Amino acid sequence: MKRIAVVASGRGSNFQAVIDAIRNGKVPAECAALITDNPKAYALERARKAGVPCRIIDYAAFPSREVYERALLATMQEANADLFVLAGYMRILGASIVMAFPGKIINIHPALLPCFTGLHAQRQAVQHGVKVAGCTVHFVDESLDGGPIILQKCVPVLDSDDEDALAERILSHEHQCLPESIRLFCEDRLVIEGRKVRII
Ligand code: GRF
Repeated sequence: MKRIAVVASGRGSNFQAVIDAIRNGKVPAECAALITDNPKAYALERARKAGVPCRIIDYAAFPSREVYERALLATMQEANADLFVLAGYMRILGASIVMAFPGKIINIHPALLPCFTGLHAQRQAVQHGVKVAGCTVHFVDESLDGGPIILQKCVPVLDSDDEDALAERILSHEHQCLPESIRLFCEDRLVIEGRKVRII
């Protein structure tokens, strides 16, 4: 059974979807830790309810980003996970962390990458007037939302959509796409070939 650790900064609905999928036997993994940079993250509450060990690396308590990243790296190493899942982690992972876990970090992003990277992807989609939006799970490399893509799901954009309405529709697809990607990883079915991921 693979060990996964989830890294989240906020409400943690994707984290919850992962917990539920593991509990329902849809994902053959053990959730070994929740790591957060935010002591007020609602994800912590979810972890406590599910009995998942929590580690808080409070960004605000560190004198610099470098010192914070060293603490985060140490915590990730201690977690001894096969896979780290960024699920609403609202910071960019530093190069030292990305390099320490090659092919072992994935992220969920609320857009069809490579469109609309960075923050407020749903707002960008509405403002751009796209007709189709979606979500992407990808391996993390040193670029912003740019690593090899594992799975994507399409979501229609309605004329009446504002950012919140679209975000909600995308989120329900995220909750399927992320556990599904983790399942594929845990079943050793993801092969990274250059920029591409082959699913075997
Ligand atoms: C999701 O939209 C995810 O794609 C993005 O941040 C949001 C996190 O939501 N990276 P939640 O904390 O999982 O509810």
